Amino acid sequence: MKIISIICQKGGVGKTTTVVNLSTIFSKNGYKTLIIDLDPQGNVSTYLNFDKNTNEVTNSIQLLEGTTEVYPGELSENLSIIPSNKEIVRHNEEKIIGGSKIRKLKQAGFFNNFDFVFIDTPPTMSSLVQEGIAASDYYLIPTKPEFLAVEGVAQAMNFAKTTLKNIPNINPIFLGVLLNQVEKKRSSYEEFLTELEYLLGDRLLKTKISHLTEIADSPFYGKTVIDFSDESKAKIEFNKLAEEIIERVEINEKIS
Ligand SMILES: Nc1ncnc2c1ncn2[C@@H]1O[C@H](COP(=O)(O)OP(=O)(O)OP(=O)(O)O)[C@@H](O)[C@H]1O
Ligand SMILES: [Mg+2]
Repeated sequence: MKIISIICQKGGVGKTTTVVNLSTIFSKNGYKTLIIDLDPQGNVSTYLNFDKNTNEVTNSIQLLEGTTEVYPGELSENLSIIPSNKEIVRHNEEKIIGGSKIRKLKQAGFFNNFDFVFIDTPPTMSSLVQEGIAASDYYLIPTKPEFLAVEGVAQAMNFAKTTLKNIPNINPIFLGVLLNQVEKKRSSYEEFLTELEYLLGDRLLKTKISHLTEIADSPFYGKTVIDFSDESKAKIEFNKLAEEIIERVEINEKIS
């Protein structure tokens, strides 16, 4: 079982889009997959048409309040969700020094039924994001290819590093930076890419996700890339991304 957090304090870079599409691809490929939503916006539930106000499943607030009864909601075959709702903001400023609640549940084996757990996080530098990082084996930072995004990526990396320093005995691995919403025709793109490659080396994921209308429209239709035709660029790119993530996880498993 591997837990992967998707983090970036910048809003709208594609955290939720990445969580939702990777999770559905992984589950379709036979991996038992769980999404934990730590974002008060609750966008994952809206995207996947799941009632985030239901009392019938465990939500992420209960995880943070230390529940020991974990009953995720079923989304589809092999895919489950622990939804969030806006009440979770009361945990925003909590100090988690000394140990994350989700990490404790992980250590107690609560997520062992799953092959992969993806954690969606809010666009903040808050303890909700630290919870996600602390519980994770890996974290991934998506970004848009924009001039100011370089600074945003550096800030996200520093935030993760500080989190690792402040919480004892956690060692999640930085999986890399994902370039999302790429428009190759934009004149600044090549320059931006060169700068990011220089800064990140192989921590920049090889797979890039293009800016595509079908991705922008998909939450409205409640669709993810697995619902698209095999020729769809969005489906091809996200499938590639899923392969690269698996590869990177496998390489790290071999090393450690
Ligand atoms: N590759 C893409 N092409 C086109 N639109 C995209 C792409 N990726 C994301 N979007 C759109 O951009 C918007 C922001 O994406 P998303 O909600 O995934 O970002 P986020 O980082 O989770 O935002 P927040 O920080 O608010 O949680 C959404 O409307 C989404 O549909
Ligand atoms: Mg989001």
